[in-house]
Amino acid sequence: MAAPRYDVKTIWLHWLTAALVIALWCLGQTIDWFPHGAPRVFARSAHISIGALLAGVFVYRLWWRATAGARLPAAGTGGLKVLARAMHLALYVCIFATVALGLANAWVRGDNLFYLYKISPFDANNKALRESVENCHAYAANFLLIMAGMHAAAGLFHHYLLKVDVLGRMLPALGRNARAIP
Ligand code: HEM
Ligand code: HEM
Repeated sequence: MAAPRYDVKTIWLHWLTAALVIALWCLGQTIDWFPHGAPRVFARSAHISIGALLAGVFVYRLWWRATAGARLPAAGTGGLKVLARAMHLALYVCIFATVALGLANAWVRGDNLFYLYKISPFDANNKALRESVENCHAYAANFLLIMAGMHAAAGLFHHYLLKVDVLGRMLPALGRNARAIP
């Protein structure tokens, strides 16, 4: 009997979300490496655009999970199962917080997206607000990456040490005969 798996759309939404989060973090951490002027404006515009894309993917993923997406009981038993469930919930909350703070960050700072679309700053002279939103966005982003790293490590630990086929639930089939829970 093939192990129960998430449906194809849930699996691809998982890995698309993971790829966008990691790309956003890497780009966010390196925006200040770009020389001032057009290179930095383009780097920041790319970050904001990919961030807006993640916001859309995330809303769709929540809608899909709440409607037709497969929902499997978290892997493991006892405390590990509760921990896995709590980690999944925490990852959803962290993505929501980082994206919401990112949108707020772009708004309080104002920006010039690819020199094509001007975002006028929410309160241009409010330096304190700008700094606190910027810092909160950076903290949320770093916390999300740490959580995602622990989550990934837990998935590998289950798979390679506990021999529980949890990774197989979320890996694209790629020709393996697997069955998703209807
Ligand atoms: C999970 C998603 C995201 C991650 C992981 C992320 C990560 C980061 C990081 C690490 C920084 C640099 C913080 C610093 O040290 O100063 C940053 C800056 C920024 N982020 Fe995000 N971000 C995300 C989503 C977004 C979204 C959705 C937006 C807006 C639509 C956004 C807008 C910004 C802006 C405007 C900056 C400041 C750039 C600068 O300092 O020039 N971010 N982000
Ligand atoms: C930024 C990166 C990531 C985020 C935000 C993330 C988020 C999530 C979330 C929210 C779930 C729960 C799915 C649900 O029930 O709706 C999940 C499940 C899962 N993730 Fe990730 N993930 C990330 C990266 C990874 C990586 C790198 C791996 C593997 C190395 C991984 C392996 C898994 C597995 C195996 C499951 C299924 C767990 C189970 O059914 O108990 N994830 N992920």
